[in-house]
Amino acid sequence: MTNTVSTMILFGSTGDLSQRMLLPSLYGLDADGLLADDLRIVCTSRSEYDTDGFRDFAEKALDRFVASDRLNDDAKAKFLNKLFYATVDITDPTQFGKLADLCGPVEKGIAIYLSTAPSLFEGAIAGLKQAGLAGPTSRLALEKPLGQDLASSDHINDAVLKVFSEKQVYRIDHYLGKETVQNLLTLRFGNALFEPLWNSKGIDHVQISVAETVGLEGRIGYFDGSGSLRDMVQSHILQLVALVAMEPPAHMEANAVRDEKVKVFRALRPINNDTVFTHTVTGQYGAGVSGGKEVAGYIDELGQPSDTETFVAIKAHVDNWRWQGVPFYIRTGKRLPARRSEIVVQFKPVPHSIFSSSGGILQPNKLRIVLQPDETIQISMMVKEPGLDRNGAHMREVWLDLSLTDVFKDRKRRIAYERLMLDLIEGDATLFVRRDEVEAQWVWIDGIREGWKANSMKPKTYVSGTWGPSTAIALAERDGVTWYD
Ligand code: BG6
Repeated sequence: MTNTVSTMILFGSTGDLSQRMLLPSLYGLDADGLLADDLRIVCTSRSEYDTDGFRDFAEKALDRFVASDRLNDDAKAKFLNKLFYATVDITDPTQFGKLADLCGPVEKGIAIYLSTAPSLFEGAIAGLKQAGLAGPTSRLALEKPLGQDLASSDHINDAVLKVFSEKQVYRIDHYLGKETVQNLLTLRFGNALFEPLWNSKGIDHVQISVAETVGLEGRIGYFDGSGSLRDMVQSHILQLVALVAMEPPAHMEANAVRDEKVKVFRALRPINNDTVFTHTVTGQYGAGVSGGKEVAGYIDELGQPSDTETFVAIKAHVDNWRWQGVPFYIRTGKRLPARRSEIVVQFKPVPHSIFSSSGGILQPNKLRIVLQPDETIQISMMVKEPGLDRNGAHMREVWLDLSLTDVFKDRKRRIAYERLMLDLIEGDATLFVRRDEVEAQWVWIDGIREGWKANSMKPKTYVSGTWGPSTAIALAERDGVTWYD
């Protein structure tokens, strides 16, 4: 733990993310002895608490959001003792001295986590600087969304980089903290099996689906100004595309990995005014049945008309030597039939079938990586069914099925934020996003949004509990591709 900081400052500590994820993650790390005994966690927000009051608040959050088998009174007491609190108006730099007073000795540095609206980042940075909290041993973690487009993201990054150097900045994309997402690197670069086929000669297409059953409920205010393209594709889904498509980095080190990812983002073929109709589909959920109950449509939840998309499907291309001609079909949406994030890599068919067609149709091999809910890796294979048939032997597609949840059932499952919090505290930036990555992502996303605007493209309503508008199915079917449901 040589790079471990002395203190952490958590902005937005009474917010939803903090209660659900950040405090429970820090508790989980502490319960396992992974946080230094003398680490101080200085929490702050606009809410009026003193340290004791905030510890009560935090305890309630832990009771609610930590799995019961990981909660115990001693561990809770030990963790709560690490928390300190000051009420600070983030827009007023003169109030940041209260945080400095609570930090204690900080010779090993401070990890600052901004879990607030991005519009508050600039003010926070000014306050941190004024209070002497932005020195060379400080690290700054920024929660997404990092802006709404390239211009606003640049604006934030410029303000951040006036005070911190790039290597001090840890931009969060919590998908990078998920076990199976990290496993993509191990699967690709820890096995010799896939690499020879991992290109346009071996792969027919890639599908990436991030499906959610939830609607927007309490988050609709934020989401209505964002939409699925910016909320999910710009960050999480493009990171998945990069991990599937990137070249092998020379070693597992932050900049080596990020150098390769950024090349993928820069190679994304622009989708523009001319191609937006053929390459994208947007939808917005209407009323329907989701998770076994009747749910209202987006407009009814919002209480006013809106053209914000809650579903998007895109046919993307990575224009480089390895991926020429291999479409990446990506889709994400709210109120879909299942909560499931997965990547399906479909390989090319065999060049010639030696079997009689009465034996069954040869299906191309597929590699399916399920990120959630259950971490699974599956490979489809054609096999002969048992029996005495000869030339027309009956063949069937079956799956080699590796449930990582089962294989590692005695191992603790950690939420993504535990990984990321620990990396931030210990100073490993590999799973955080570099500025040039964010910029290249926005360039591509902004192009799509400009295309939608120029063509006055509006989302099509889909029934909650279905896989989005039927045009999303057509997007793939036009190429003879079926979404893997
Ligand atoms: C967040 C998005 O970044 O990721 C949410 O803002 C989305 O809209 C969430 O629901 C999905 O995360 P997960 O880990 O539940 O797949």
